Amino acid sequence: TPGIRPLVAGNWKMNGTSASLNELRSIGNGFMSGLDAETEALVCVPATLLQRAAEILSRTPVRAGGEDCHPKESGAFTGEISAEMLKDAGASHVIVGHSERRELFGDNDAIVHAKASAAWRAGLVAIICIGETRAEREAGATLDVLSRQLEGSVPTSATAANTIIAYEPVWAIGTGLTPTAADVAEAHAHIRGKLIGLLGDAAARMRILYGGSVKPSNAVELLGVENVDGALVGGASLKAADFLAIAEAY
Ligand code: G3P
Repeated sequence: TPGIRPLVAGNWKMNGTSASLNELRSIGNGFMSGLDAETEALVCVPATLLQRAAEILSRTPVRAGGEDCHPKESGAFTGEISAEMLKDAGASHVIVGHSERRELFGDNDAIVHAKASAAWRAGLVAIICIGETRAEREAGATLDVLSRQLEGSVPTSATAANTIIAYEPVWAIGTGLTPTAADVAEAHAHIRGKLIGLLGDAAARMRILYGGSVKPSNAVELLGVENVDGALVGGASLKAADFLAIAEAY
């Protein structure tokens, strides 16, 4: 989208130990050597790695993020991590409403809405994920599902500065399957229109990322689609060479 700096973001999910930090070093170095000043980069890592990731990346243009947060700032929520804790560990962004959270951990639109607000409260940018399942796509319900998720998950105080939307068709995640460029264009145009309806003109500059089986071989095509302002990369973000190759697609 004209005037929007693209973002290539990684999501390591429940992958990575100390040994994986070398990949992060390589990612940082890749961006240091002037990979593409036009592209912003972020890697969202497990909370156990966040502080070290943020330190490693601090001398590079790449930033570190969290993968989820609890809506509350602190309290008796054993095992949970707040947005404030992520911020304290060095995060700049946090993913909320990833389809794996929605499917496996019961994160519904209201919870995602609360988590996005929590992110802002802590000074983090919220990456709010939406996307249809295979059954919803086959039923022709994709655009309705996206509208419903945007209405329920995106607080009305969202701005292009504090929020990024990630469109991740659930059936394309980790499967090697991707929508056609025309399908991506339709979904992203719909999301853009809906965001402008909900939030006003400010949403014209909000980033809308595509996620789901992005890899070096399809990045140029997917990232070249209108209204695609970057990528949210899962599996391919675990390998520095692949992540850097995707970032080079811009
Ligand atoms: O959040 C990114 C993710 O869900 C996409 O995963 O492995 O298909 O790139 P992957």
